[in-house]
Amino acid sequence: MRLEKPVLTKRIPTWPWGDPKDRHIVGIDEYRKTGGYDALKKALAMEPAKVVEMVKGAVIRGRGGAGFPAGLKWSFLAPPDGKGPRYLAINCDEAEPGTFKDRLLVDFDPHLVLEGIAIACWACQIDVAYFFIRGEYHHQAKVMERAIREAYDAGIFGSRGLMGGTVKHAVECHLHRSAGAYICGEETGLLEAIEGKRGWPRVKPPFPAVKGLFGRPTIVNNVETLAAVVPVVEHGVEWWTGIGVAGTAGGMPSWGTKLMGVSGHVNRPGVYEVPLGIKLSTLVNDYCGGMRGGKRFKAAIAGGVSMGVLGTDQFDAEMDFDIGRKYNVLGLGTACPTVFDEDTDMVMVARNIARFFKNESCGQCTPCREGSGWIYKLLCRIERGDARTSDIDLLLELGLSMGLTPGTTICGLADGNNWAIRTIVGKFRADFERRVKPTFVPVHISSASVR
Ligand SMILES: Cc1cc2nc3c(=O)[nH]c(=O)nc-3n(C[C@H](O)[C@H](O)[C@H](O)COP(=O)(O)O)c2cc1C
Ligand code: SF4
Repeated sequence: MRLEKPVLTKRIPTWPWGDPKDRHIVGIDEYRKTGGYDALKKALAMEPAKVVEMVKGAVIRGRGGAGFPAGLKWSFLAPPDGKGPRYLAINCDEAEPGTFKDRLLVDFDPHLVLEGIAIACWACQIDVAYFFIRGEYHHQAKVMERAIREAYDAGIFGSRGLMGGTVKHAVECHLHRSAGAYICGEETGLLEAIEGKRGWPRVKPPFPAVKGLFGRPTIVNNVETLAAVVPVVEHGVEWWTGIGVAGTAGGMPSWGTKLMGVSGHVNRPGVYEVPLGIKLSTLVNDYCGGMRGGKRFKAAIAGGVSMGVLGTDQFDAEMDFDIGRKYNVLGLGTACPTVFDEDTDMVMVARNIARFFKNESCGQCTPCREGSGWIYKLLCRIERGDARTSDIDLLLELGLSMGLTPGTTICGLADGNNWAIRTIVGKFRADFERRVKPTFVPVHISSASVR
């Protein structure tokens, strides 16, 4: 399964389409000369509701991790009430370990993202867009700031109305730099951060579409999701749904192309634009030049550590939004796999991931705050060889007790921790058992009463 022509990266030379050395930031003049902002022109000639229908028809699944269809989310906004601005928050926090795909778009083709933002603002009748960018992305923040200035100078944004007053609807666009916490990528943590508060996720409902930034209706979308809106408007729904795969067993489809950032033990790590549904083994062998040093595949983080791991026998997993159901991971996430070879110590991988979640828990919910600390301590104990078999089960029990799925936390950070640890332990239990001592069972206690 190969992509004939790049879609989102058509202006960015990436292997196998060009030499990475040829990459440069595409400014507004070059962007326009190569058809840029034509999709916005086309969208502005349509009724906003028609644009929403188009995006809905294309089923652009959210590229930020949850896979929620963008058009459906947009349709949740009530009509403008004239009582204040409506907002778009663009999520470029990209703090999920192993994820670096949004950065590629901002680095080299920022106007593609801005065009998607302008189309979304027209479709949803949004007045103000906040581009929320990861604190560590210093260079990218400067690139985006310059591109926003270029777009203002060209009249795309500003008080005259979109695209130099083509329509009366005016949009202001601001860049907001994060202070640097993973939790600010969670959509309501992000809204709190833009409001100048501590990035603590909010209890939902109300969802942002009803009560978001400054209490007003707000759409939160990922950078790549908004970029994908541009080719959909440009080429139409039928063209977009010709790429990718239909959902299995009545599930939602995974149409279109996807940026997949591959890291770990492969010969050519990088961001590749591929059709959704590509097998992980094809991505690794055909795009990334195979496993580093000719080693065998052992495991891969499915798409950001929160999604959990694919096991040794799941190298052929199809990278689409059905991956969770089919391969016992949380989901496709950001579709940025980290690949591990046969020499990888999975106990060390789990301990390292647990350390990340322990440090990044915002602390509002007891199961996440305390559980993440206990998971980390147990894994350190297993890694040192000081643990017993029962500690492995305790680890699984702790994991199962925290998250939105068991209904014990406010946000999904705890689910990420839960899935990462449970899938590593579940799929590589032998690695863990080799490191622990058997649980001591006193003779007067029957084995049935010991878990
Ligand atoms: C702990 C946590 C971190 C997240 N980090 C990001 C992130 O860095 N970027 C992102 O786009 N979405 C992130 N998300 C998902 C967002 O909450 C939200 O679903 C997404 O931005 C919506 O955009 P989309 O529908 O276009 O994917 C995160 C979610 C959680 C629970
Ligand atoms: S689940 Fe964790 S990160 Fe999310 S709100 Fe609760 S304590 Fe904070």
